[in-house]
Amino acid sequence: MGAILFLLILALLKDHGHGAPQKDIDECSNNSLICGDNSACFNTVGSYYCECLPGFMDVAGATRQCLDIEECVEYQHICGEWGTCLNQVGSYLCQCPNGFRNTGDGQTQCVDINECKIDRVCGKRGICQNLNGSYWCQCSAGFTNFGNNQTKCVELNCDQDETQGTPGQTLPGFDHFLSLLRNNCLMLSKSTLSGPTGNVLLTLLVNATDVLQLGLQSNGHRSSSEVTSLLRTVEISIRLIAPQLTENVTRIETNHTEAEIMVRRDQTPPEGPVSLTNENTQLDTTWETAVGDYQNYPGFAFVVLLSYKNLDTLKDSFSHQSQQLMSSAVTVSVSNSNTTNLPQPVNLTFNHLQSSDVDSTCVYWSDENGPGEWSGQGCTSVMSNSTHTVCSCNHLSTFALLKGIHQKKESGQLSVVMWVGISVALAFVVLSLIMSLWCRNFSRKRRGGHRLQQDIQLYSK
Ligand SMILES: *[C@@H]1O[C@H](CO)[C@@H](O)[C@H](O)[C@H]1NC(C)=O
Ligand SMILES: *[C@@H]1O[C@H](CO)[C@@H](O)[C@H](O)[C@H]1NC(C)=O
Ligand SMILES: *[C@@H]1O[C@H](CO)[C@@H](O)[C@H](O)[C@H]1NC(C)=O
Ligand SMILES: *[C@@H]1O[C@H](CO)[C@@H](O)[C@H](O)[C@H]1NC(C)=O
Ligand SMILES: *[C@@H]1O[C@H](CO)[C@@H](O)[C@H](O)[C@H]1NC(C)=O
Ligand SMILES: *[C@@H]1O[C@H](CO)[C@@H](O)[C@H](O)[C@H]1NC(C)=O
Ligand SMILES: *[C@@H]1O[C@H](CO)[C@@H](O)[C@H](O)[C@H]1NC(C)=O
Ligand SMILES: *[C@@H]1O[C@H](CO)[C@@H](O)[C@H](O)[C@H]1NC(C)=O
Ligand SMILES: *[C@@H]1O[C@H](CO)[C@@H](O)[C@H](O)[C@H]1NC(C)=O
Repeated sequence: MGAILFLLILALLKDHGHGAPQKDIDECSNNSLICGDNSACFNTVGSYYCECLPGFMDVAGATRQCLDIEECVEYQHICGEWGTCLNQVGSYLCQCPNGFRNTGDGQTQCVDINECKIDRVCGKRGICQNLNGSYWCQCSAGFTNFGNNQTKCVELNCDQDETQGTPGQTLPGFDHFLSLLRNNCLMLSKSTLSGPTGNVLLTLLVNATDVLQLGLQSNGHRSSSEVTSLLRTVEISIRLIAPQLTENVTRIETNHTEAEIMVRRDQTPPEGPVSLTNENTQLDTTWETAVGDYQNYPGFAFVVLLSYKNLDTLKDSFSHQSQQLMSSAVTVSVSNSNTTNLPQPVNLTFNHLQSSDVDSTCVYWSDENGPGEWSGQGCTSVMSNSTHTVCSCNHLSTFALLKGIHQKKESGQLSVVMWVGISVALAFVVLSLIMSLWCRNFSRKRRGGHRLQQDIQLYSK
């Protein structure tokens, strides 16, 4: 009985199912089970089919197995002549070497970038030559890119007095160096670079500076104009040498001279703070200051800190005999040549040669008016203690610390002595004044008496 009832219900249910439109089973709802990996399932009425995903291929057909297509092997030159094809599961990627780019997205051929289409990539007077993956700049005569043929051509003046060595103003020991430097300059301006490199020239410059300082030390009576000549020569030479240095950071130290030079050759102007340090001085500035006008960025930037440990022995030659240096003198130079009024000052931290509480003045070597002297213009002391002084300067040149006249520590004691002295002196002045007044009064009376006597004498005559 129960079994009949069960069958009846079953039949009823079956009838009911027949009545409604037949419902399709979506075989694809369990895709991976039906079609396998890397394939897509497509449901049809009463059936379904499988297709491999893009980048995959049904290798065996019957087994319906979608395997990764190795595009890099299958289609040679899919990335062009210069691109590197990287196979990925279901895909591939065209990697372009430097100087090349994809024509479209990452799956397109690599083609050469024509750098010469970039505005003024070789500067105003450079001729750009495009190469596959590269380019180089051909500079007109009188222009150079300092042997780095991918930087802008800039004007070069090899006829500056200081590098020629004006007669009567030759710097002892600089002849050989200056003739090499001039040759180097002329070759640069003709784009036929050979001969000594930047590093060799720098070594020679530092050596010559050393020898000269020694000469000044033993002699002791050099004129201000000789100091001016040395500093100008160093500044001009370093501007020619620095762009030819191959290292990012170059350091040279000799007995009396220390040079540190930092060079950057980025495509775009470098930014951010930059610090150079040597034994006695630290320079803090920014790459923005070194670059200056970024629209004329030549493709390199440099910062130079060159210190003269023995320039203080020149004190005898200063216009004021009392001036004495408390630090090494340092020349600061950057690739930007417009440094007479910096938008952002540079900071120089000087170690005092001797720890002392004497007032220090931040100075620079000024040669605008006359043969040259230490001047405090445009440089201020922002911090000072017994061992260090920080100077902030809004132009570039050669800097140092000058010993001040006032003495800080003893000023308190001095003033007490001074006040006592002044009081005593004042007391004496007042006393003598009273005395003299009294005396004069007394003497007038006496002289009056005399006159009376004289009158009487006259009368009596
Ligand atoms: C798909 O198949 C898996 C494994 O057999 C199972 O656990 C799951 O319940 C199924 N899903 C559907 C929607 O049928
Ligand atoms: C760049 O490469 C192509 C193809 O290899 C060649 O035809 C062309 O001369 C090359 N161009 C340069 C400037 O080397
Ligand atoms: C450009 O400079 C590079 C690196 O110094 C050098 O290999 C290349 O030969 C130079 N190209 C030309 C055309 O001078
Ligand atoms: C430095 O210069 C002096 C004099 O010109 C020379 O004798 C010496 O060899 C030079 N030293 C170096 C390291 O170049
Ligand atoms: C440097 O100083 C040392 C010690 O004073 C001396 O022996 C050496 O010869 C000096 N070198 C030069 C190049 O002057
Ligand atoms: C030099 O600096 C550049 C960035 O301007 C950097 O890519 C390169 O690695 C540096 N080279 C060395 C030797 O530090
Ligand atoms: C120099 O020092 C001043 C004051 O300490 C500071 O504000 C400024 O940022 C410094 N400049 C650089 C370039 O470090
Ligand atoms: C030099 O720099 C100053 C301050 O940044 C600027 O006002 C001036 O125009 C610049 N001069 C030249 C010749 O570029
Ligand atoms: C002086 O200042 C410098 C730099 O700020 C600091 O390193 C040093 O410790 C100070 N010295 C003294 C004696 O305060």
